[in-house]
Amino acid sequence: MRVLGIETSCDETAAAVVTEGGDVLSDVVRSQVALHAPYGGVVPEVAARDHARAVVPVVREALSRAGVAAADLDGVAVTSRPGLAGALLVGLQAAKGLAWAAGKPLVGVDHLVGHLLAVFLRRGGAPPPEERPSFPYVALLASGGHTAIYRVDGPSLDAIRELGATRDDAAGEAFDKVAKLLGLGYPGGPVVDRLAATGNAAAASEAVPAVMARKESLEFSFSGIKSAVARHVAKRGRPEGQALHDLCAAFQGAVVDALVQKTVRAARVEGVERVVLAGGVAANRGLRARMAAACERRGLALFVPPFASCTDNGAMIAYAGALRLAAGERDALDLAPETRTALPRVTRKGGGAR
Ligand code: KG4
Ligand code: ZN
Repeated sequence: MRVLGIETSCDETAAAVVTEGGDVLSDVVRSQVALHAPYGGVVPEVAARDHARAVVPVVREALSRAGVAAADLDGVAVTSRPGLAGALLVGLQAAKGLAWAAGKPLVGVDHLVGHLLAVFLRRGGAPPPEERPSFPYVALLASGGHTAIYRVDGPSLDAIRELGATRDDAAGEAFDKVAKLLGLGYPGGPVVDRLAATGNAAAASEAVPAVMARKESLEFSFSGIKSAVARHVAKRGRPEGQALHDLCAAFQGAVVDALVQKTVRAARVEGVERVVLAGGVAANRGLRARMAAACERRGLALFVPPFASCTDNGAMIAYAGALRLAAGERDALDLAPETRTALPRVTRKGGGAR
């Protein structure tokens, strides 16, 4: 089976052709980062307009790199939720038009399910079998829009359960906001990651509180640490030189500690031996290193997809769609965008003791 996947939920216009076995035949990602950078974050209307310009060329490129015509496809998958409504609408219209014109089945994919299954993608030849987890696994999904821990018993929506999520900001959002406060530009994760590598976290630890210290909870909160950095900058000004590196290291260390501790705890509570990383923040070198060490200590097997599978891409959408098609599922041409995920949330937004 060869399935085209289209992704336009946020600030990447992406399309890919993937088989139901997860082999990536093509994967085209056109980032809008430069377009949104002057605003320090994604501007929804700007995103939607740029998707409208880019979606047809990106889809063409994905088909041509895979060496398939629309007539050769077995279906068209598209991110239908969650995301920016206007941005989602562009991908949906493109997918519907193509599916209708070529007479192919259409399936909508929940973007978060795409991230959670991205670990199964095979790029440039098959990795040995142990590089792909079996079900069940515990997955940490940390991106600019979402941060949650899931138990994944299978690829369908009803086999995925949220164990805990953030009550406020997503982890990537915290990186982006702190980078903005420090004058480091957008997106913030990669640059904070780079500066943190040569920083001494202990030298700046008084500026940064521990993140959500309550031990039993699997929920996150990242707004407090962002406010602490904002207060620090308001009082002392933007740090420079080594002090900047130290502050980045302290901030990243606190965020990573929370992500690692809670993910490992979730695996223990669930009695699951496999841990998977997903989402753009999974590119963070500090997170990868500390998660690897923590899993090793506890005898957990850790699966970390390559960077291209962690950040937003069309291949994960095509793959999740291929599994839906293989299960005989289809969506009608009136499929509508939804801003929220179809995965039931257990974590409520906001404060309070729980
Ligand atoms: O998954 P993704 O590409 O898009 C969303 O669905 O949000 O994630 C983007 C997020 C941004 O917030 C970015 O700052 C963060 O991932 N990110 C990182 C790193 N690379 C990207 N955060 C920390 N360290 C990184 N190396
Ligand atoms: Zn994403």
